[in-house]
Amino acid sequence: MMRGKTFVATAPSNIALIKYMGKNPGEVNQATNASISYTLPHLITQVSLTVTDSKDVQWQPDLSFSTPIQLSESGQKKFLRHWERCCQRLAPRFDNLQFSNLHKGVLITSGNNFPSDCGLASSASSFAALTLAAHKMFQALEVLDREWTLTELAQLSREGSGSSCRSFFEPWVFWSGNEVRRIECPSSEWGQLLHTVVIVDEKKKKVSSSEAHQRVLTSALFEGRVARAELRASHLENLLKKSITIDGDFSLQRIWNRIFEIAWSEFWDMHALFETSSPPFYYLTPKSLVTLRYLQEEWEKSGDGPLITMDAGPNVHLLYRSDQRELRNKQRAHLRSLDLLTLSEDRND
Ligand code: PMV
Repeated sequence: MMRGKTFVATAPSNIALIKYMGKNPGEVNQATNASISYTLPHLITQVSLTVTDSKDVQWQPDLSFSTPIQLSESGQKKFLRHWERCCQRLAPRFDNLQFSNLHKGVLITSGNNFPSDCGLASSASSFAALTLAAHKMFQALEVLDREWTLTELAQLSREGSGSSCRSFFEPWVFWSGNEVRRIECPSSEWGQLLHTVVIVDEKKKKVSSSEAHQRVLTSALFEGRVARAELRASHLENLLKKSITIDGDFSLQRIWNRIFEIAWSEFWDMHALFETSSPPFYYLTPKSLVTLRYLQEEWEKSGDGPLITMDAGPNVHLLYRSDQRELRNKQRAHLRSLDLLTLSEDRND
């Protein structure tokens, strides 16, 4: 009856300003410290689940997207394992129902609306979309064991990919332990940021983030890391929760400058862990440094600029306030003149 039916869900990516880096051993993607991210609704993964005649569960790239996703064998395994997890947790009675073999006959396709070969992590949006698609399918088949809240779905998704749990909310999201929630910001300013990523290197990274989570624990600098990240997370959350005043300590510019400093120290902290792990590894390239130096000098000249951060990769993520659109365009043009590709939500300017 349900054969051939397709269930589709989409989910956005997110960029962390306080990083999830380091997992507690023995637990499923339990971060050693709190993290805070900004959701990127313009960078989306779409997952479709189609009930098939075959008894296999298969993954394929969605060819309707202009640059199909390429998942390694281990990437596919991880994705399919999460599908199994979704089946077991969302619909444990599924096996006993009349569609007894159905969950073994599913074609999973996924596609990104952003170039998937440009080195942008898509695991957060992919796992969130898969979790949502599975929930949608089981809801339609009326085999959900109970009502699931968005927070519970985020917690389930976390077991597939830690950072994906933050993709269930927007714009600012806090994750610590089992707690995943939106940060309530009184000022609308914080929900309207413009995102640009400077694509320094399009190649697949040599050290995966799963590997990075393990290796950072060997760095001598990991000592104190949890306390440093927790402190930054609490400062950042407090700043986002402040009502902006016309002047004084909580004026827009002062808050912005402090958020910039927090984000800047935080990504260097994470990259210092990479460089001092045993064995050490790195993602920063000379082009990443050219980008960072240019933006840093711009900040020094004018006392203003974008929030800057880097993930476990060489690309540089920038968040501008909505009133900085002109500055953003100017800086993008300069970066382009240095042969650096940028990707923004309004790709045409
Ligand atoms: O969710 P994972 O295992 O891909 O880890 C992501 C880790 C970082 O992207 C480097 C930081 C973060 O908090 O998103």
